[in-house]
Amino acid sequence: MTVLCNISQLATCPVDAAQQDAGLITDAALVFEGKRIDWVGPEKSLPQRYSDHETVDCGQRLVIPGLIDCHTHLCFGGWRGDEFEMRLQGRSYQEIAAAGGGIRSTVAATRKESAAELADKALHALNGMLDLGVTTVECKSGYGLEPKTELKQLQVYRQLDACQPVDLVSTFLGAHMVPDEYQQRRAEYIRLLCDELIPAVSEQGLARFCDVFVEQGAFSIAEAREILETARQAGMGLKVHADQLSAGGGAQLAAELGAVSAEHLEYADQQGIEALASAGTVAVSLPLASLYLREAYMPARRMLQAGVRVAVATDFNPGSAPCYHLPLAMTLACLNQHMTPQEALMGATTIAARAIAAEQRIGSLLPGYEADIAVIDAPSLNQWLYHFRANACHAVVKSGQWERQTD
Ligand code: NIG
Ligand code: FE
Repeated sequence: MTVLCNISQLATCPVDAAQQDAGLITDAALVFEGKRIDWVGPEKSLPQRYSDHETVDCGQRLVIPGLIDCHTHLCFGGWRGDEFEMRLQGRSYQEIAAAGGGIRSTVAATRKESAAELADKALHALNGMLDLGVTTVECKSGYGLEPKTELKQLQVYRQLDACQPVDLVSTFLGAHMVPDEYQQRRAEYIRLLCDELIPAVSEQGLARFCDVFVEQGAFSIAEAREILETARQAGMGLKVHADQLSAGGGAQLAAELGAVSAEHLEYADQQGIEALASAGTVAVSLPLASLYLREAYMPARRMLQAGVRVAVATDFNPGSAPCYHLPLAMTLACLNQHMTPQEALMGATTIAARAIAAEQRIGSLLPGYEADIAVIDAPSLNQWLYHFRANACHAVVKSGQWERQTD
């Protein structure tokens, strides 16, 4: 049994609360036993039965649920710093992709690298994420676009999930792009996905979700529907990269198919927003991608007003978002999407958990939830997200184990 005390502010992030209410408690205490949270509340109400147990003084800091990055492309070969410069000189993401760069160039690099090389690089990022207070990460394939390399990426995730503290939740994104070798016969690539890859991934239990990039130059609504319906029949949950660079009906498709989340949505229209609201599909906002591509931001305020839950994630990948700093994404969500600090925190905890169908287990600091906890070196949530620092995380508990602790 461990008692955390002297907490200046604690955010419980309750699973069913409205997004604007992160369940803040001033002068709080929290008790965990083994992997689970046992008690949380104002320190002055701490029950007597806990008085003999080990106490950790949080030094008047902020305590939040371990952060959940619910959208990343964690495993990839190479980087694309050259494209960063090209974009700064005025070439667009789509132009670079059409000229053979973009996702295609990362596919070539990922095919070349061994599983061990890919795992090493992804592990480095995971260590950096844990330092920031991130305890669960969703991670996609999609840089193989051929059976061998798609499976290699998903196997890297399985291996990393078993050998370090951050929990990984894998998503199959074989429908990220049509690879070069299938450009003239895209229907055959859809068959490869539906008839071979989805069954193989599902039989080996390698991915919990299936995602499709719906965009001009990627997949059409009709193609995405077929792929996602096949994945659903194979027992996977559904996600959609929707309306990132243009409004294309991706949000409506995600809602129609009962997807757990729709991602990006920078160009989602009112109809799409309303469809997400009535389906209960989480909108995953990726402000770092908007920042790096100098594109529009998802209209998060309009989403929230319409009753959509908005998660905040990094989209960490070598092209549109080469950054895994989730607290920075949260600060950007406040500054550029007019979300409040409480809304941004809910978006990176319980609502992010909902986007990976884990909201009954993680993302909230309530009795029975997993003891995934970040102690932040700031007296309050407002102070943390406003006074941006390279890393303000003071300590991390994952499943009841202390993983990071600064003096
Ligand atoms: O989420 N939109 C599609 N996929 C990624 C970008 C991948 C890349 O540029 O390598 C995204 O932004
Ligand atoms: Fe993405």
